[in-house]
Amino acid sequence: MTAGAPETMRAVVLKGHGGLEQLQFHEDWPTPVPTGGDVLIRVHACGLNNTDVNTRTAWYSKGVSGGTTGGALDSAGDDDATWGGAPITFPRIQGADVCGTVVSVGEKADRKLIGRRVLIETWLRDWNDPLNLEKCGYFGSECDGGFAEYTKIDQRHVHPVDSGLSDAELATFATSYVTAENMLNRANVSAGDTVLIPGASGGVGSALIQLARRRNATAIAMASESKWEQVRSAGADVILPRAPADLKTALKNHIGSETVSVIADVVGGSNWPDLIDVLARGGRYTCAGAIAGPMVKMDLRTFYLRDLTFTGATIVPPGVFADLVGYIERGEIKPLLAATWPLQELRAAQQAFIDKKHTGNIVVTMDPSG
Ligand SMILES: NC(=O)c1ccc[n+]([C@@H]2O[C@H](COP(=O)([O-])OP(=O)(O)OC[C@H]3O[C@@H](n4cnc5c(N)ncnc54)[C@H](OP(=O)(O)O)[C@@H]3O)[C@@H](O)[C@H]2O)c1
Repeated sequence: MTAGAPETMRAVVLKGHGGLEQLQFHEDWPTPVPTGGDVLIRVHACGLNNTDVNTRTAWYSKGVSGGTTGGALDSAGDDDATWGGAPITFPRIQGADVCGTVVSVGEKADRKLIGRRVLIETWLRDWNDPLNLEKCGYFGSECDGGFAEYTKIDQRHVHPVDSGLSDAELATFATSYVTAENMLNRANVSAGDTVLIPGASGGVGSALIQLARRRNATAIAMASESKWEQVRSAGADVILPRAPADLKTALKNHIGSETVSVIADVVGGSNWPDLIDVLARGGRYTCAGAIAGPMVKMDLRTFYLRDLTFTGATIVPPGVFADLVGYIERGEIKPLLAATWPLQELRAAQQAFIDKKHTGNIVVTMDPSG
C-alpha cells in the first residue's frame, strides 16, 4: 500500500500492437509505488496524441509507408515499432499529457510537492547526461504513462502549474505545445517571419499558430474548411484550405508574396512538393510529423539552389517545457479542448481522435462520468 493511494487502480493497458481492441480497461491494475526520487501523481486528466496511436499500430516501423490511419498495419514490424526505433514492452499504459496532483513521494523526493497540481514533462532523460539524445525516452512509451488513475515519474519531470484552467484544459498542452515550441526554436522563428502551418487545426498545428504569433511572426494556417472558425479563434492571421489548387497564388492574394520564410509541418504526404515550392530563398523547413504519409518526393535542386535549411524536431531540450508552463501561467497561450471522455471509454475517444472531426485536442478524465 502506497501512502495516499489504494493498492489497485483503474487503468487502460495496451496489450500489444494492433487495433483498438489492444487497449483494455482494468479496474484492478497495480498502483505504481514511488521509490527514490519518484513522485506518485493522482491523474485528473490525460490528453490523447498520435504517438500513442502510432505506437499501438506500429506505424513508426520502416515497413509502413502510408499515413496514419489508426488501424492495425500488416506491414509493420515489431522490432522498430516505436518513435525511437526500438521494440516496446507490453503491457504498457500509454498517455503522455498528464495533469494531476502529487499524492506521495519516494524517500529522496521533495515532500513539498505533495498536494501540488502538476504537469509532466514528457521527454524522459538520463539526468547524468541530459543532453544526450540517445538516452531519451517518452512518457507512456518507454515507461508507463497517464491513462490510469495514478502514475509515477522522477520529480525532475514534474512542473507545478499555477493556473485557473481546468484539469482537462491543462491536459491539452504537453506534447503538442512543447513540440510546436521546439519546431519554432529549431527554425529560429522570430518577428517578421511568415510561417506556413499545414495541419493547423490539429494539436501541434493550433499550438504552432499561437506560439508563432507569440513571437510576432505571421501564422498562415492550412486546414479543412469545416474547422476554420476554431482555427481563426486560435489566432491565425491567414487561413487557407488543406490543399489549395494553387498555393502560390493563394499566398500572393493573402500576404502579397508567393513565398513564406518558414514551413512548420506535421503533415507531409502527397502535397509536400507544393509546400517546399513556396519556401523563399534561405527559408527554413521544420518537421515533427507526417500524418498524411512519410514518403515524399523531393527535388534536391530546390533544396540546395535555394539555400534551404531543414530541421527535424522530436526530442525537446531541457528548459522548453518550463518555458511552456510560464506561457500557460501568464495566459500567453490558450487550450483548444475539443471534448472529454471518461477513461474507460478511451477506445471510443481514440476513434474520435483518429476521425479528425475535431479541432485542438481530446482528453480523457478519471471522473467516470467524463
Ligand atoms: N515528433 C514529435 O515529437 C511529435 C509530437 C507531436 C505530434 N507529432 C506528429 O505530428 C503529426 C500531427 O500531430 P497532431 O497531434 O497535431 O495531430 P492531430 O491533432 O491529429 O492533427 C493533425 C491535423 O492534420 C491535418 N491533416 C492533413 N492531412 C491529413 C491526413 N491525411 N490525415 C489526417 N490529418 C490530416 C488535419 O487537419 P485538417 O482536417 O484541418 O486538414 C488534422 O487536424 C502526427 O503525425 C504526430 O504523430 C510528432
